[in-house]
Amino acid sequence: MNEILRPHAEDAYAHELTALEAQDSGVRPAGWRLSPRAVVRYLMGDTLDDGTEITPKYFGDRRLIEVAVASLVTDRALLLVGVPGTAKTWVSEHLTAAISGDSKLLVQGTAGMSEDALRYGWNYARLLAEGPSEEALVPSPIMVGMRAGKLVRIEELTRVPSDVQDALITVLSEKILPIPELGRETQARRGFNVVATANDRDRGVNELSSALRRRFNTVVMPLPATLEEEVRIVTDRSRAAAERMQLPPVKKDAVVEITRLVTIFRELRNGRTEDGRTQVKSPSSTLSTAEAISVVNQSRALSHHFGTGDIETEHLAASLSGAVVKDPERDGAVWREYVDVVVRNRKGWEELFESLRV
Ligand SMILES: Nc1ncnc2c1ncn2[C@@H]1O[C@H](COP(=O)(O)OP(=O)(O)OP(=O)(O)O)[C@@H](O)[C@H]1O
Ligand SMILES: [Mg+2]
Repeated sequence: MNEILRPHAEDAYAHELTALEAQDSGVRPAGWRLSPRAVVRYLMGDTLDDGTEITPKYFGDRRLIEVAVASLVTDRALLLVGVPGTAKTWVSEHLTAAISGDSKLLVQGTAGMSEDALRYGWNYARLLAEGPSEEALVPSPIMVGMRAGKLVRIEELTRVPSDVQDALITVLSEKILPIPELGRETQARRGFNVVATANDRDRGVNELSSALRRRFNTVVMPLPATLEEEVRIVTDRSRAAAERMQLPPVKKDAVVEITRLVTIFRELRNGRTEDGRTQVKSPSSTLSTAEAISVVNQSRALSHHFGTGDIETEHLAASLSGAVVKDPERDGAVWREYVDVVVRNRKGWEELFESLRV
């Protein structure tokens, strides 16, 4: 009854990782739990010879994941950049789970962060009582990862003030973390590396210094290329979320509703209709794939508790307006115009138009 709300990837997919490990005949880089090829299989999905289903985690270009994995074999760190909701955090969690068997070494980048969060801090009671000692030292996740030879995740690296970011330079180039108070240093073991994520929207806030940028290989995470691909992502991820919310699977296939939702998101995001004929205005909200997943989740919850259990147009409509209109003054007019110009005139969308109008 005391279930964990969201287990770590290495626990949630433990059976897949164990099966991959057992069948993995590829060469494993020192400190890696799987070979690079098996890591890519884990992310992209496959069926193993023993019949084990490896579910796809990332939907998109296999080459992009291959490049990301290959970067981690070199002595450069990996930086995943992209607009919000393009699975940067998701991919980083699964990469670290597959490669190190541990996605928990995590530093969350924030504007108020100090160097301690990247290096180490002190247990002040012990520091005052005993002076600086190994026992009084509180290692950061980076230090733990260096000692254990594991990957460390840094989320939202560009939110970290630039001078604090630069504390990473020695770690990434020399693979050491000096501890002057103890007259010692931590040397990284094989298997250590960093996977960082950065949001495009933060660009220019705390740009990485060129010295630090050179220590990273950058992989740009794109928005889903086609409508079909985005529908697949939203369908797959919202099904998983429904399981987590303990909602029964919908009886009717929600693909029609999800396709409409994703179409609307793509059109508002791109500033024109899918057929390219009509220009539309874009709202201030980020209409990401992740946001579309949330809208479907909310529709599922609405229909399960207050409807028939199937996602009906009215549930989608109720969740949709809230996702698009984040700033009532600016987005309200943009959204009304889209409903009046595009939704109203589209064949088969009459019911959606009626639900959105009220
Ligand atoms: N191409 C994709 N393949 C699989 N899942 C995806 C894809 N794109 C988005 N998602 C899903 O979107 C959700 C949000 O992704 P995530 O939090 O990793 O985004 P992010 O890029 O880190 O965004 P932010 O910049 O806001 O932190 C996840 O549940 C993820 O599964
Ligand atoms: Mg993220």
